Amino acid sequence: MCACLETSPRRGQELILNSETAREQFASRLGFILMTAGCAIGLGNVWRFPYITGQYGGGLFVFLYLFFLAILGFPVMMMELSLGRAGRCTFPGSFRKLQNPETRFRWDFPAYALFTGNLFLLMFYTVISGWLLAYACYFAAGKFRTMDAAQCRTFFESFLASPGLQTLFMLLVLALTVFVCMGGVRRMIEKVIKVMMIGLFLLLLLLVAQSLRLPDAVRGVRFFLYPDVDKFLSGGIWETVHAAMAQAFFTLSLGIGSIAICGSYIGRDRSLPMEGVWIIALDTLMAICSGLIIFPSCAAFSIAPNAGPSLIFITLPNVFHNMSGGPFWGFLFFLFLCIAAVSTLIAVFENLAAFGMDEFRWSRRKSCAIFGVALALLSMPCILGYNLWQKFQPLGKGSSVLDLEDFIVSDNLLPLGALYLTIFCTNRFGWGSENFYGELNHGIGWKLPHYLVPCMRWGLPLIILAIWIIGIVKRFHLFGL
Ligand code: ALA
Repeated sequence: MCACLETSPRRGQELILNSETAREQFASRLGFILMTAGCAIGLGNVWRFPYITGQYGGGLFVFLYLFFLAILGFPVMMMELSLGRAGRCTFPGSFRKLQNPETRFRWDFPAYALFTGNLFLLMFYTVISGWLLAYACYFAAGKFRTMDAAQCRTFFESFLASPGLQTLFMLLVLALTVFVCMGGVRRMIEKVIKVMMIGLFLLLLLLVAQSLRLPDAVRGVRFFLYPDVDKFLSGGIWETVHAAMAQAFFTLSLGIGSIAICGSYIGRDRSLPMEGVWIIALDTLMAICSGLIIFPSCAAFSIAPNAGPSLIFITLPNVFHNMSGGPFWGFLFFLFLCIAAVSTLIAVFENLAAFGMDEFRWSRRKSCAIFGVALALLSMPCILGYNLWQKFQPLGKGSSVLDLEDFIVSDNLLPLGALYLTIFCTNRFGWGSENFYGELNHGIGWKLPHYLVPCMRWGLPLIILAIWIIGIVKRFHLFGL
């Protein structure tokens, strides 16, 4: 029986305060901001953002991405945090609890489907995090010291061809994640994430300083930040717009409830807009700095910055190999990527663990153990997609299971979840804008003005829907496009 159902479905502050006592809370505001930023900061910033920017031509793409972060990412993040804080429950449970009791539509049913986005995300996130850990270890062991570019490629391909090795590293990062989540929010997750995020920012500064000192670094920075219209148009305007929006949702993990769960562990003493600004600023800082590490390195060693997903695994080992002190910087770089990925793993896994506790009343340990085992099994298709199941190319020639999982989450569940959330929060037949704003602006601190409500009610869903449809049409070349 669902724990969240036990509370009467009446809406209002009384309900929220009553249930507040029962739920764990962060020990500090810093803990909350870093945990939520840790959930947002991950492969999306340090792996996906640089290669997408490389593919879609640099500076103008970055500008478009920042624009979507402001007009879509920020409001949807406000909705997720408010939903979590008011519902004090996982995603579906919060919908159930907060929905207008006079409406017969069960808002929680579609929310369950959207919530599976957490699983789909982690099914490939664990695997890529394992690759990062493996590469950090290989660098520490001086593995790439004597390899040229072709050998780095062969090495990565032989690594992918080995299900055993990939499984080993995937299990290591998953075990660490499960262990941290078993310790609880306040006692373990908050403390571990704080240390990880501070370490991450220190490493970031060190690596940016090192990268900007390379010869020809300016050319890389120019490629990254200079708005070049020709390059921007050559990627196809609608593909670029869609990629920028998908990246804005992916980087903030919006639409599947991972941010909402962080909101469910905070008190009501502060309003939420300023917290959102901090989280998005940290996330953006991390993405921009990752670009400042990667593009100058590519420029310095004449490596094409549009190498796609393999950029960091094939091209960068070669960069470090050519650098003085290369193994050390390579180790630090992959350690940095690994920490970023594991902070997201922990936060999203906590969402699954909380789901088991909220919906099935499992103990924390039991919920973590069950989802840990499930995730170990569910990560296998992604691993096998690079070797034993290589012939399965679900999205066309050359695609893999990872591409399919990424497509399900990034191109569909995240934007559709954001759309659903927007409709729920701004309409009376859902939660309603009065209730949403009441929660959002409750407490001390900056408050979002009410005149933005019509933009959120009409503008946001239309933009998200239009761009989602364009993405699908382009992806499958529908209507001859
Ligand atoms: N927000 C997570 C990331 O950027 C999913 O990697």
